[in-house]
Amino acid sequence: MKQKIVSGMRPTGKLHFGHYLGVIQNWVKLQDEFDCNYFVADWHALTTKYDNTSELRQNVIDVVADWLACGIDPEKSTIYVQSLIPEIAELNVYLSMTTPQNWVERDPTLKDMAKIMDLKGNDSQVSHGLLGYPVLMSADIMMLNAHYVPVGIDQVAHIEITRDIARRFNNIYKTDFFVEPQPKLTEIPLLCGLDGNKMGKSFNNDIKISDTEEVTTKKIMRGITDRSRIKKDDIGHPDLCEVIYKYWKIFGSEEQIADVKCKCEAGTRGCADCKRWLASVINEKFKPIREKREYYANNVEEVERIIKDGSDKVRAQAAENMKKIRKIIKMY
Ligand code: TRP
Repeated sequence: MKQKIVSGMRPTGKLHFGHYLGVIQNWVKLQDEFDCNYFVADWHALTTKYDNTSELRQNVIDVVADWLACGIDPEKSTIYVQSLIPEIAELNVYLSMTTPQNWVERDPTLKDMAKIMDLKGNDSQVSHGLLGYPVLMSADIMMLNAHYVPVGIDQVAHIEITRDIARRFNNIYKTDFFVEPQPKLTEIPLLCGLDGNKMGKSFNNDIKISDTEEVTTKKIMRGITDRSRIKKDDIGHPDLCEVIYKYWKIFGSEEQIADVKCKCEAGTRGCADCKRWLASVINEKFKPIREKREYYANNVEEVERIIKDGSDKVRAQAAENMKKIRKIIKMY
């Protein structure tokens, strides 16, 4: 029996390179060794965007199409949508009873979320649902009793809370039913946005997996380099280059990186040429992924079918587990 993996993403729309390098690549690698279950957290989307659901459905499709294009294989992994598994909501009720209030209030991610809401001009009220974010996330993970949760570094605090919630449930009901899940991190360094800040949709500094080559090149040409370098034959400092050299280190080959560094330091290759070259290297690397992405954009019914099959499968397991959980709690 393979060990179980559960992980999810909120349906924020088309995914960017940060998602790919930080999470999806990791998900793809785990598919052979583990029983992988990947889902779209559409209830979690409502914790901040409850008043703007017009694009929710399309966003779910876009996220799954991006996963499929990047190599998440529905023959190996189970792909599903959170809201198609009502058992998760039931487990969320039980866990919200056993989780102390100060555990959720201490959640460091909550503060960031509240900030983003502010940025978007929501009425910036933290709802009951947003406060319960880590409890719902625990329900996602515990519903299938996952051993590992592959996530980006920003989500590790949530997995810690999940371990605490699982342990506390087991203690209260004198059971060992729930596994204490562990995070599984990627080693890849965080990819910054084109302006040097954290890459994110809301910061308008990202490159999407589904961007065309032209758009990708245009975006990279905007990327920040060594601010002290004014003319193209000025001596450059790769280590002061705020974005482009960092991208080279992630996307370039050893030889390319050495060449970029050498010509920059000698002042023999200007930043514009350097960026154009980087764009062509990145476009080459993402060509097969983008072709697949295009295929799924034109065959949405295939994406829908994959979601339905996966959700049916997870729902059957969730219903089995739910019977056991009700019995443990001694529900009617
Ligand atoms: N909070 C995660 C994110 O924003 C998404 C998520 C929801 C999740 N439930 C999960 C991730 C369960 C892992 C496991 O990316």
